Amino acid sequence: MSQVLTTEILPENYRFLQEHVYSQVGIVLEDNKHYLFESRLAPIVKQHGLGSINELVALVRAKRNQDISHQVVEAMTTNETYFFRDPAQYEAIKNVLLPKLKEDRKDTRKLRFWSAASSTGQEAYSLAMLLLESNVKDWNLQILGTDFSSKVVERARAGLYQQIEVNRGLPASLLVKYFRRSGMDWQITEPVQKLARFETIDLRKSMRTLGPFDLVFCRNVMIYFDNDTKRGILKEIHTTLFRGGWLLLAGSETASGIDEWFERKMIGNLTVFVAK
Ligand SMILES: C[S@@+](CC[C@H](N)C(=O)[O-])C[C@H]1O[C@@H](n2cnc3c(N)ncnc32)[C@H](O)[C@@H]1O
Repeated sequence: MSQVLTTEILPENYRFLQEHVYSQVGIVLEDNKHYLFESRLAPIVKQHGLGSINELVALVRAKRNQDISHQVVEAMTTNETYFFRDPAQYEAIKNVLLPKLKEDRKDTRKLRFWSAASSTGQEAYSLAMLLLESNVKDWNLQILGTDFSSKVVERARAGLYQQIEVNRGLPASLLVKYFRRSGMDWQITEPVQKLARFETIDLRKSMRTLGPFDLVFCRNVMIYFDNDTKRGILKEIHTTLFRGGWLLLAGSETASGIDEWFERKMIGNLTVFVAK
């Protein structure tokens, strides 16, 4: 007889999961996210042959298996991303920010970028393709992609995408030029891949040693944090940027305290943040 999986979470276990995810990654999950815990944790329950999420919580609480504990936290991160997400920002990079950076860095001919919360790598690789399409190809170009989740960092490093992923946001001309078929999937090719490297980093940790960067993407991640966490992260990002370097948040995002370290600039309808 197949085992019946009970997904219902006891209230004290729900509170434990909220606190555990918050302490491990900073993500705030409100009291009404039962469905999210249930749908994301059910596969882990099944994988470990457990009968319920409550049994899974008991294992995490016992602190005997760090892998399971980490797996639970990773499962609660949202990794949604796609190529050239928020195209207006890439247009602004191509038409305004890159020309300015080229002028500013014409002596060193070196540009450094950071995709903070890079998920499966589409953001970093979109930027890499944009750079290869611009006349800075022969410059020293480095893109760092970082994420809390080692699972998505491994995927970003592999640079292997499913058809459904390359269908999202990636122009056909760039698909043909910078990817090759690998079975049913698409493999990003060496000229793009070699511009980007990926590391596992928790954004709440000190990031002073990462920079200095000319431009940082920190998009669609601040929404998961409380105000104190956001402030701490913005402060750290500021330390990684050259003075006058650029921070791009997601289109609709802003963060409390940002004006302390950044100046807002409009490029058309787009707000970008300049390190003071
Ligand atoms: C929705 S994705 C955003 C991906 C990409 N920046 C974009 O806009 O398409 C959010 C990513 O933030 C990562 N994340 C969440 N909390 C984090 C933390 N404390 N440190 C680093 N990364 C974190 C998640 O693992 C996830 O991959």
